[in-house]
Amino acid sequence: MVTVVNHPLIRVKLGIMRDENTSTKEFRENLDEIASLMCYEVFRDIETVCSGETYQTPTGVTLDKEKLSHKIVLAPILRAGIGMVDGVKNMIPTAKIGHIGMFRDEETLEPHEYYFKLPVVDNPLVVICDPMLATGGSAIAAITAVKKRGYTNIRMLCLVGCPEGIAALEAAHPDVHIYIASIDDCLNEKGYIMPGLGDAGDRIFGTK
Ligand code: PRP
Ligand code: URA
Repeated sequence: MVTVVNHPLIRVKLGIMRDENTSTKEFRENLDEIASLMCYEVFRDIETVCSGETYQTPTGVTLDKEKLSHKIVLAPILRAGIGMVDGVKNMIPTAKIGHIGMFRDEETLEPHEYYFKLPVVDNPLVVICDPMLATGGSAIAAITAVKKRGYTNIRMLCLVGCPEGIAALEAAHPDVHIYIASIDDCLNEKGYIMPGLGDAGDRIFGTK
């Protein structure tokens, strides 16, 4: 299933990110803010339970604090996924954070895993994040790696994708709900999303 999180605030911020003249600082800030806004949809249906911790309102009523019923594990795909971590963490400060090192070969576009570490948590909701879903290869490999370690409840949070990547990911992992801010037109001959926003990792970290 795919949810396109189509909201005017997100569209405005994404437009700033697409602009080639946007600075590294502004690029990061807008990605951060969009990641926070997207949490509204990603976590819309998760349940809460009463924590047993009571408090009193200024009007003298005693209430029980709610807490999320699932532990959340956030798993950015390195490097670019790191750019979405703070935005989600600001909304869910209790989230545990893992890291999935994945780079795609610039010639073959095949993904290569070089690092994997997720927190050991009982039956968590794992949210894998990566701003770019191009061929879908990196996301598919990351989800496969997460499933191999026994995690079953997985969601994918992206910023920009294209029909090719969405179709590939849905075919490989139909159980994983994809949340994305924009499905762009297509891939170009170098495997870049069009119109896209260029190389997300380079723009976040200023490496080009
Ligand atoms: C980018 C991006 C995704 C991947 C998407 O990472 O952040 O992980 O490409 O492409 P795909 O859907 O075709 O696999 P990249 O491999 O450039 O690594 P980086 O984030 O370290 O720059
Ligand atoms: N990775 C990126 O960072 N951008 C693209 O357009 C495709 C893959």
